[in-house]
Amino acid sequence: EKGGYDYFMLKEIAEQPKAVADTLLGRIDGSGSLTLDEVRIPPGVLREIDKVVIVACGTAFHAGMIAKYAIEHWTRLPCEVELASEFRYRDPILDAQTLVIAISQSGETMDTLMALRHAREQGSKVLAICNTNGSTIPRESDAVLYTHAGPEVAVASTKAFLTQLVACYLVALYLGQVRGTKWGDEIRAVIRDLSSIAGAVDQVLVTMEPVRELARTLASKKTVLFLGRHVGYPVALEGALKLKELAYMHAEGFAAGELKHGPIALIEEDLPVVVVVPSPRGRSVLHDKIVSNIQEIRARGARTIVIAEEGDEAVVPYADHLVRIPATPTLLQPLVATVPLQVFACELATARGNEVDQPRNLAKSVTVE
Ligand code: BG6
Repeated sequence: EKGGYDYFMLKEIAEQPKAVADTLLGRIDGSGSLTLDEVRIPPGVLREIDKVVIVACGTAFHAGMIAKYAIEHWTRLPCEVELASEFRYRDPILDAQTLVIAISQSGETMDTLMALRHAREQGSKVLAICNTNGSTIPRESDAVLYTHAGPEVAVASTKAFLTQLVACYLVALYLGQVRGTKWGDEIRAVIRDLSSIAGAVDQVLVTMEPVRELARTLASKKTVLFLGRHVGYPVALEGALKLKELAYMHAEGFAAGELKHGPIALIEEDLPVVVVVPSPRGRSVLHDKIVSNIQEIRARGARTIVIAEEGDEAVVPYADHLVRIPATPTLLQPLVATVPLQVFACELATARGNEVDQPRNLAKSVTVE
């Protein structure tokens, strides 16, 4: 069942290139346009939408945070992302012009289900992004875009997360395509880039041995911090969540720009800090700012674990450990940057003797509020 792997989680990490490719399959036509016929919300309705609200929990929430960057950039629609468990208790502003996107691997998470029920009661259209055919969340939604990750057994989500990202990009690009934006050329280029992204994920997977070795040396640490910016910020949060779930270690993700507003006080000698570095091409200002952050924390003794694009030489002098990822368009970087963090958490958990597939106190799907 585990296909020769010790844990389902290792198997599911390894399946990510296929999961990503399967989620794209049949959704890009020969001319490079998206054909999301399954999204049964008529284009006319999608053109009238004036706001997008994403609700989700846990790892799916991090996918939603990344989706916000893509949706706002490619569609210019305002997009909010909210923890499903908080959503309905604050009387959110919803109407028929709001598109609500509910992201859930299992399709059974009660918090997410209650949030979408609330949204539909207010007259909003709900699109589910889900990995489980026929589950409750898609059944109760107006439309569903299924992720094709295949069954995910390990409690901590890996391949489902990557396919949620793919689905979110598809929705963002589709909304851009249907509504028409000034980013038409960029949208076509990104659709092309998405077609080759599974290969990039594969490329990361085959270079993970140094990450495993590093993780084993950190097994006795108490805390690991994660820093990122832009779409790298939710990636940092996801890296920290994985470490909490699997290694039972204190881990926190921060937006690197916030470092100076508080978290830098935590930096001490030999504290491991993982930094997700934005591409030096895309938004190069952010790249340069994060390089300064790495310098700052290293000057205070942090042990820097730097995840940076191939060819990014600026980070080299400040990286105690350097993890290379393939160059991708800025918004797509989470698809490759998350993988080393999954491997890192899995290996650390194993080194600490933890049960990787069934972490203590957690359940794969939480069907109570
Ligand atoms: C949690 C799981 O309880 O539910 C997480 O342990 C998961 O791994 C979260 O991210 C949300 O689950 P789902 O099925 O709604 O994506």
